[in-house]
Amino acid sequence: MPIECVKLTKKYHGATSKSLDNVNVSIPTKGIFSLIGRNGAGKTTLTRILGTQLMPSSGHASINGLDVVDDAKELREIIAVIPQDGKPVPWVTPAQMIMTYLMWRGYGIRDARSRALSVIKDVGIYKEKDKHIENLSGGTRRKVLVGCVLASEAEIVFMDEPTTGLDLISRTSFWETLGRLKKDRFFLLTTHYLEEAESLADGIGILDNGKLLVSGSMDQIRRRIRYKYMVTLGKDAKVPDVKGKTVRTSNSTKIMTSEKEAKKIASEMIRRHAEFSMSPISLNEIFYSFVKEDIDLENGESHEEK
Ligand SMILES: Nc1ncnc2c1ncn2[C@@H]1O[C@H](COP(=O)(O)OP(=O)(O)O)[C@@H](O)[C@H]1O
Ligand SMILES: [Mg+2]
Repeated sequence: MPIECVKLTKKYHGATSKSLDNVNVSIPTKGIFSLIGRNGAGKTTLTRILGTQLMPSSGHASINGLDVVDDAKELREIIAVIPQDGKPVPWVTPAQMIMTYLMWRGYGIRDARSRALSVIKDVGIYKEKDKHIENLSGGTRRKVLVGCVLASEAEIVFMDEPTTGLDLISRTSFWETLGRLKKDRFFLLTTHYLEEAESLADGIGILDNGKLLVSGSMDQIRRRIRYKYMVTLGKDAKVPDVKGKTVRTSNSTKIMTSEKEAKKIASEMIRRHAEFSMSPISLNEIFYSFVKEDIDLENGESHEEK
């Protein structure tokens, strides 16, 4: 059963605007769902409401049929939350941290030890298991937190910006770990890294100004976009006359257009022996096109496209 939000709204005490504004969404609790948006979009607010840590102002949210307010106690048995900036205790080792965590939850020492060991293998930190956490890389530290959450047997895991600030290699390895673990669990995570969300998440939601602009699989989201293809030409290229949107940057010319028009441009470039590349538009462009539209609507502007 999915996560259901109905008219979910949050206005913090004393705030002038809504941090979540009438969010309606249904998210299947399978695989990985990634919530993306600029700073202040409402990602943390939504994650905390779903994690039963924050009360909505109005509307409802439920997970597997359990209401985040009325059934919070039951819900906490099946969910786990890693907050934004969550950190493991620095002066113990990953093995100690996960074992202690399990013993708090009532496991006997033997069970806790063998369970901790198996989780340590699952998240790929076996080599680091006996080192002090303060000496581990940022990526490994986050994996220790994931280890604790997994040890708890929660089926549904919320992680707020688990990869922010990690270098590319740590981020890739973190996602690989989630990719392996998602068979038995659902992860909802927030991120700024659109290319990661695009290639690794099963579902994506774009939040902006407290509003959910779109949600679904990459294919479903792409279907909502007018121009589904992008052709990239050199920066000084003469742009053929096509229907679409042209953006010139300091080192390239990008044309967002339909598949048919993109193929026309491609054959023209081949005829001219000019360099070009062509691909379905990425989440990056999709994100900006949704968020830009939102900004334009607010300012009462419209933008003409030829
Ligand atoms: N405790 C709070 N009190 C008042 N306003 C808040 C509080 N927490 C967040 N906000 C505001 O709510 C909006 C959404 O914030 P947040 O959910 O943290 O966004 P994100 O995680 O996408 O950066 C922002 O405008 C932020 O300033
Ligand atoms: Mg946040």
